[in-house]
Amino acid sequence: MKKVITYGTFDVFHQGHLNLLKNAKNLGDYLIVGVTTQQYDQYRGKLNISDNLMKRIENVKATGLADEIIIEEYEGQKIEDIQSHGVDIFAIGSDWVGKFDYLKDYCDVVYLPRTKGVSSTLIREKMSGSILRIGIVGCGRIAHRFIPESKYVSGIEVVGVYKPDKKGAEEFAKTHELSFATADLNEFIKNIDVAYIASPHLSHMQYARYFLENGIHVLCEKPISFDHKMLAELYTYAQSQKLVLMEAVKTAYCPGFNRLISLVKSGIIGSVKDVTGSFTKLSSGNLRELDPVRAGGSMFELGTYPLLPIIKLFGPKPEDMSFVSMKSDTGVDLYTTGNIIYKNGIGHFKVGLGVKTEGELIISGTKGYLHVPAPWWKTEYFEIRHEDTNNVQKYFYKFEGDGLRYELSELVTLVRSKSLTTHKYLPAESIAIASVMESFSRGECVTEII
Ligand code: CTP
Repeated sequence: MKKVITYGTFDVFHQGHLNLLKNAKNLGDYLIVGVTTQQYDQYRGKLNISDNLMKRIENVKATGLADEIIIEEYEGQKIEDIQSHGVDIFAIGSDWVGKFDYLKDYCDVVYLPRTKGVSSTLIREKMSGSILRIGIVGCGRIAHRFIPESKYVSGIEVVGVYKPDKKGAEEFAKTHELSFATADLNEFIKNIDVAYIASPHLSHMQYARYFLENGIHVLCEKPISFDHKMLAELYTYAQSQKLVLMEAVKTAYCPGFNRLISLVKSGIIGSVKDVTGSFTKLSSGNLRELDPVRAGGSMFELGTYPLLPIIKLFGPKPEDMSFVSMKSDTGVDLYTTGNIIYKNGIGHFKVGLGVKTEGELIISGTKGYLHVPAPWWKTEYFEIRHEDTNNVQKYFYKFEGDGLRYELSELVTLVRSKSLTTHKYLPAESIAIASVMESFSRGECVTEII
């Protein structure tokens, strides 16, 4: 009996999939079809899958062509499957020509002709109506990183850029081959569905409000605002207008960090009593992050990151807080350490632009602790450890590129599903972080050291 194996996502099952399965079946007597998990698809950079795993399996099953359906969960699995199932032929569409030649050591590899004019990506785009047009506000470092990341998310296109200085906008548009550059906000909003605000910190709030008032969804770089009341009003306003307002805190949306939070919440380390996180980035020169006039300083620049797991795990209402800061001659904090105190636990954090620390995150509970090595904010790996030092569970995830693709993917899901807020980063959590920043900026509970 000749065994054939093939793999795919088989999202929004279409004629191309059916033809591929028919052709694969015709190569032998027994067809095994591997269907990818959503997690594995995310790992390999395929975001925005529409159908869940069960539906995709059901659709393959309904063709009656598969003698066996298996689940593909990790890289390298194909070799194991081929060996363990005694497979004779590996078949895949011609879009993969050459990519699976390494399997020739284990079986025959056949690239089948791909059906022209149809793909899951095209169908997803048609289903969603149209491509979401994104316009960028500002041309700084993060804006440059945003564009290559956007190419990994289907259903969107970065179309243009706005900057009050038109020349700067034109240069940016030329570098990234965008359709337009403008210094006119009126023109900008006519040509976009979503504004990505990457302008200087202190302008975020004003822009965000303007776009929401004009019916445009907003993805805003952090911090949207340090005024928690104004921020709360803005979230309420966005919801009343049925528009998405998302703060771009990349860690909040990445797969590893989300898994970590769910695991801890499921009680794997008992009741959480301590969350300790650190993020430092030595900086010097004429940078915005060192400029007191442009909301510089370690806390404003980096504080959101370690506050995120603290607020996510202990909630948005701390009982008390205190900070110790080392300031520069110009008055920005080059190093801040803080305690966020709750009835049932404590969060500690360290942030620094002028002091270097180990960038790790440790979440301690009554039954064990979770350790994420530096750089924890790009959560790719963590361990759960217990009293018994032999009892260690290791978890591996992927954090692709600059990680901005995850927040973008979430944004697309929210806009498409009209669900407006994401459980990955609740408005209440974003507001709570703004509130901590606000207390800090008012100098409340801050002790200064030299
Ligand atoms: N396939 C095909 N003809 C098409 C589309 C897909 O033969 N028009 C084949 C692929 O080459 C692969 C299998 O179907 O062998 C599963 O592909 P999958 O990646 O699930 O489908 P795509 O439509 O290519 O998905 P996407 O657009 O998300 O990449």
